[in-house]
Amino acid sequence: MASNYQVVDLFAGPGGLAEGFSAFTNDEGSAPFVVTLSVEKEKAAHRTLQLRAFLRQFDELPTEYYDALNRGRPMPNWAETHEGEWQTAEEEALQLELGSAKAASILDKRIAELVTLGVPTIVIGGPPCQAYSLVGRARNKAIEDYVPEEDHRHFLYREYVRILKGLRPVAFVMENVKGMLSSSLDGKRIFDKVLDDLRAADGNPEAYELYAIALDDDGRTTLRKASRHQDYIVKAEDYGVPQARHRVIIVGLRKDIAAKISPDHRASTAVARERSSVRHAIGGLPALRSGLSRGEDSAAEWREVVASQMETVVSALEASELDADVLLAARNALAGFKKANSLPPRLSTASASFEDDCPALLADWLAEPNLTVTLNHSSRGHMTEDLGRYFFSAVFTGVRGRAPKAEEFPTALAPAHANWTTGKFADRFRTQGWDQRSTTVTSHISKDGHYFIHPDPMQCRSLTVREAARLQTFPDNYLFLGNRTEQYVQVGNAVPPFLARQIAEVLHRALSYGEPGQQGAT
Ligand SMILES: C[S@@+](CC[C@H](N)C(=O)[O-])C[C@H]1O[C@@H](n2cnc3c(N)ncnc32)[C@H](O)[C@@H]1O
Repeated sequence: MASNYQVVDLFAGPGGLAEGFSAFTNDEGSAPFVVTLSVEKEKAAHRTLQLRAFLRQFDELPTEYYDALNRGRPMPNWAETHEGEWQTAEEEALQLELGSAKAASILDKRIAELVTLGVPTIVIGGPPCQAYSLVGRARNKAIEDYVPEEDHRHFLYREYVRILKGLRPVAFVMENVKGMLSSSLDGKRIFDKVLDDLRAADGNPEAYELYAIALDDDGRTTLRKASRHQDYIVKAEDYGVPQARHRVIIVGLRKDIAAKISPDHRASTAVARERSSVRHAIGGLPALRSGLSRGEDSAAEWREVVASQMETVVSALEASELDADVLLAARNALAGFKKANSLPPRLSTASASFEDDCPALLADWLAEPNLTVTLNHSSRGHMTEDLGRYFFSAVFTGVRGRAPKAEEFPTALAPAHANWTTGKFADRFRTQGWDQRSTTVTSHISKDGHYFIHPDPMQCRSLTVREAARLQTFPDNYLFLGNRTEQYVQVGNAVPPFLARQIAEVLHRALSYGEPGQQGAT
């Protein structure tokens, strides 16, 4: 069996999928999946990707990396301090727009080089999803002269298929949003066409066998033949991710290899998976206060504004007689807030830890003992009235175990929003409850924090990039570059690396049976 596979990551985002593949180690303790090429068009995501491509070349991350982060200093100029590794990272992570003529000419050359190396290849990645996502489709419908047949984003998966044809990988993994299952074009389901094109990804209509990812009764991740489209949906929460994230994942095995793998070989080792929650993921991160988006943003001003908002909420609850338990919790929180001697900062310089009961597998995966700071962990500023709504929503969620619907807000807290009472915005303010898994972290978090309110009523804020990254299972040493909005987008777009590593494991085991001359798995 090949000891190494070269991995090509297309539409790579910040590299969540690739991180899981790179981090997987076999029984001998070596990492068989080596990313050799990744392609992403956005500058900030590409910078994140390139830094990670550089860091991955070291058995342990360079001390200069920790030094810079722990002391809040700029990164060294890696091109000078580690010329060879930086150059490799530049050659690996390309900022290119797939589908453009420029990208095709550069990639075709690289593909030809990779093919000559004779190392088995795996292609991973998913074409962008805006054109398929339900939100994206609603938005497109609103565009007067929108013609789906002319939206090039519908066809970007063909670029993925074109690259499969050039590389003839032993396997591929394609991820996409659920909307891809129901999206249609010219009256035909796009998904049927995608499956046909993937099966035929080397010209021969039966070149690849397609599999879905599933769990068996023993907790083994398996590759299974799908009997219906829905079977391709993977629920990240079933794999120990502290987030409900449902995505389509298709695994392709080249026919000659698939033929040698019996169903029992298409399964990972058994894992005792534990459910994980928002508390497990973010409970150990340093507390932060939010900021005030208008006016002065000093700690003293914030304390005053928040206390007054909390009082408004308590009075509104007293007047509305909504729920005695919620009222009591709000009063207690207000009293605790007034008694507190100090306020947390807006930007954390403290280290991250975990709640004691965080499942060990997840904590080991996320933890970074060499950092004395928490990366990408600073709060956003909010409108004064929203602070009161966040407070109410967090208190309500703490008591009821779910976020309040619009109609459950006291009238005095209702935003001046024509649609507030129509039901259309019932979930407008959604606190992520401590003991549940979070809702899907999407790139939307960059625009609107209302859907991702921190469960601690004392902090009155939306989640930070690091909190979103923990829910997405990015290790704590994964640094997101670009401005804060760009960082949120990167995090929201990614495949959870903790899930990706489990996919890498089952694929590795299957391939260990499938390659010519092999006896069996490691
Ligand atoms: C869903 S995200 C990928 C997430 C990634 N697999 C991960 O796990 O982190 C899709 C990415 O494709 C990028 N993208 C969109 N169109 C592209 C194009 N034409 N060429 C290259 N990248 C593109 C987007 O910027 C986005 O980062």
